[in-house]
Amino acid sequence: MSKPLLDLTQLGMSFPTPNGDFVALKNVNLRIQEGEFISLIGHSGCGKSTVLNLVAGLHLPTSGGVIVDGREVAGPGPDRAVVFQNHSLLPWLTVYQNVELAVKQVAKGQHKAWIREQVNHYLELIQMSHAADKKPDEISGGMKQRVGIARALALQPKVLLMDEPFGALDALTRARLQDSLMEIQAELNNTVIMITHDVDEAVLLSDKIVMMTNGPAATVGEVLDINLPRPRNRVALADNPEYQKCRQAVLRFLYEKQSHTEPSTKDKKETQIASIATAKTA
Ligand SMILES: Nc1ncnc2c1ncn2[C@@H]1O[C@H](COP(=O)(O)OP(=O)(O)OP(=O)(O)O)[C@@H](O)[C@H]1O
Ligand SMILES: [Mg+2]
Repeated sequence: MSKPLLDLTQLGMSFPTPNGDFVALKNVNLRIQEGEFISLIGHSGCGKSTVLNLVAGLHLPTSGGVIVDGREVAGPGPDRAVVFQNHSLLPWLTVYQNVELAVKQVAKGQHKAWIREQVNHYLELIQMSHAADKKPDEISGGMKQRVGIARALALQPKVLLMDEPFGALDALTRARLQDSLMEIQAELNNTVIMITHDVDEAVLLSDKIVMMTNGPAATVGEVLDINLPRPRNRVALADNPEYQKCRQAVLRFLYEKQSHTEPSTKDKKETQIASIATAKTA
């Protein structure tokens, strides 16, 4: 197999707390090839965001390391762009200007015409050209999230990191954004790590689903290859036996192998996944 673009080796992370160190992650090993779409799934608090933050370079690991394209991660860098759950657009700039800011970071002496062309290209990609001159508070949550994605893509990162990018959106907007993300991925062949709590979202979008065990000392429990052909269509997949097999495997991991026993450890997000799971399996 070719050299992975991303290599997480024996990654460990402890946080200092008043009661001593809290071991969030232990021995996380993961290899990701260029162009792969990976979802990280696991119960709330297991350490998904910690993994993503370590890849982003926002935290440094207490053991092991992350290698991106042959270089060890020592801090944040333009080769890794992050999209958070709550879009973080600059409110005083228009949609156009928010994307332009990212384009200018990679422009390196390019002409104004090139910058304009790039901004327009990314706005078209997320179907937001019509709202280019609007400010963030004049557009919907789903639109803001799309602009956040455009901004991240405009940085032309080697790896796109997404922490529950669609978590705050309604189901219909979410479905539309998943479809546009699949189209963009087909066009640009980005390498993506996405955190999600939604089993269907993970199966629909991913080449591999990485399932994490519960913390403390969380690690990779199972990795599931999703061999469904692309382009994928959510309606057609609903009756696909391979799709059903994949979602059953993830549900089984989450609710049989890693289920929480004490109700006190359940938080809102977990209850949310549980209700999605029961609704779908009922
Ligand atoms: N700065 C910190 N100091 C101490 N503990 C931390 C810190 N950041 C995270 N943790 C702990 O590490 C564990 C993993 O947290 P993390 O945010 O990675 O979980 P998560 O899987 O992303 O959860 P969620 O699905 O709720 O977003 C949790 O127990 C959390 O309390
Ligand atoms: Mg998180």
